[in-house]
Amino acid sequence: MKRAVYPGSFDPVTKGHLDIIERAAAMVDELVVGVLNNNVKTPLFSVGERVKMLENVTSHIPNVRVESFSGLSVEFVRKCEASFIVRGLRAVTDFEYELQMAQTNRSIDHTVDTLFLATELNYAYISSTIVKEVAWYGGDISGFVPFSIAELVYRKIEQKKKGISKV
Ligand code: PNS
Repeated sequence: MKRAVYPGSFDPVTKGHLDIIERAAAMVDELVVGVLNNNVKTPLFSVGERVKMLENVTSHIPNVRVESFSGLSVEFVRKCEASFIVRGLRAVTDFEYELQMAQTNRSIDHTVDTLFLATELNYAYISSTIVKEVAWYGGDISGFVPFSIAELVYRKIEQKKKGISKV
C-alpha cells in the first residue's frame, strides 16, 4: 500500500491544489490531504470548513481522503503510515521555502521524503492569498478556484467585511 500525504493550509483550496491532488493521487494507492489546524496565519475558513471544501472538490477521486492535523507534518505522515509528502512547486520563489521544509522534515524524521510536482503552467501564479485578495476587492476568482468554492469565498468575505464572521 503506497500512501502519501499532501499537507497544506488550503485556505481555500485552489485549482492549483486540485491539479496536484489529481496528479499525486494517480501515483499512489491512497493520498491523504492533510489540512493544518494550528496555522500561525489567521485563516479565512475554519479547519472544518476547509476539510469539507476539499472533500467536496475531491469527491470524484476515490483514493483521496481528507483529514485535519495539528502539529508537525512528519508526525501526521507517521500517523497515516504514509511513505512520503507531496508538495507543489509553482515557481522558483517557492523553491527556497519548500527545500527548507523538506530538509527540516527529513532531519526530524529521516524516513520521510518529499516529492515535488511542478504546478501546471496555467496555475503557476495562483495562491490562496491571491484568491482572497482578488475576492476581497470583488474581482473574478472563477479561474482560480473550483466553481463550488468561489461562492463560499465571496460569502465568507462578505461576512468578514460585515464583521459577523466567527473566523
Ligand atoms: O499551504 P501551506 O501554508 O504552504 O502549507 C505549509 C505546511 C502546512 C505544509 C507547513 O507549514 C507545515 O508542514 N506545517 C506543520 C508544522 C511543521 O511540520 N513544521 C516543520 C516543517 S517547516
